[in-house]
Amino acid sequence: KKASGPASQIECIDFGGWEIDTWYAAPYPEEYSRNRVLYICEFCLKYMNSDYVAWRHKLKCPAKHPPGDEIYRHNSVSVFEVDGRKNPVYCQNLCLLAKLFLGSKTLYYDVEPFLFYVLCEYDDLGYHFVGYFSKEKRASSQNNVSCILTLPIHQRKGYGNLLIDFSYLLTRVEQKTGSPEKPLSDMGLVSYRNYWRLVMSRYLLEHAPEDDGPPVGLSIKKMSEETGMTPDDVVSALEGLRCLIRDPVTGIYSFRSDLEYCREFVAGWEAKNYVQLDPSALTWTPYV
Ligand code: COA
Ligand code: NA
Repeated sequence: KKASGPASQIECIDFGGWEIDTWYAAPYPEEYSRNRVLYICEFCLKYMNSDYVAWRHKLKCPAKHPPGDEIYRHNSVSVFEVDGRKNPVYCQNLCLLAKLFLGSKTLYYDVEPFLFYVLCEYDDLGYHFVGYFSKEKRASSQNNVSCILTLPIHQRKGYGNLLIDFSYLLTRVEQKTGSPEKPLSDMGLVSYRNYWRLVMSRYLLEHAPEDDGPPVGLSIKKMSEETGMTPDDVVSALEGLRCLIRDPVTGIYSFRSDLEYCREFVAGWEAKNYVQLDPSALTWTPYV
């Protein structure tokens, strides 16, 4: 998965005291692509050519958190909403950083039409960048996430799931349904599948009668409205949970809930003790 672009030689980034191997090439200006190591300020995301410049920058950079508004804080986790129009340089730097770990084409410079939701972990030294997702401002867009990233040093600890959960929380506040922009990467797809199954498992368990009989009064439409997931994503999650079976001849779906499987799936996830979203910690009104 090494960067293969002709110009770029960047093999790793120096970021917040970490050396992180890059996966793909990103279109940094040529004079920054010649070195093996690119130095990036973990707070303002400015990129630099040498450890000397980075050291000087660190002494004088006033930023201890992303620009924009802190719209969520729970325990040591915060989310900042950053407007691409108000903070174009930060958002461009963020997109370039993300490209180092994204195989597909993404935007870099045309950041105005997007909002960026940056997930940080807070300690005495400041708000440390963990990951982010971007989202189109355009109200008619069906995509509730454009790009999503967890920095490799923080992957497989539940932060991607938290970001996804957060994106659906915003969608529910907007009283909409949404789905991530396609195509998803392989990692994006496994993460979303896991999330969708988790949401549907919880939903079915909450709506199951006490005798574990089939949940009553459910419809795809209702599940979609209450979760913020699109009807298509609801259906595919239910299929993944083996709860919807499509008759290959008639095309008609029949519903059977395997609540035991759902219960195991949820319990298995919760045993990992990943950080959880607390919807009441959101202070946010939709972009208009
Ligand atoms: N392989 C297998 N399963 C994976 C996986 C992987 N690489 N990444 C996530 N999953 C599944 C697992 O079930 C995981 O739970 P587990 O770690 O307990 O087994 C679950 O999804 C949740 O993973 P989580 O830790 O919340 O995700 P993450 O913080 O690692 O972030 C991405 C997921 C997609 C954001 C991250 O892999 C990433 O930034 N990738 C590069 C950028 C990208 O491809 N973005 C998506 C396209 S825009
Ligand atoms: Na893990």
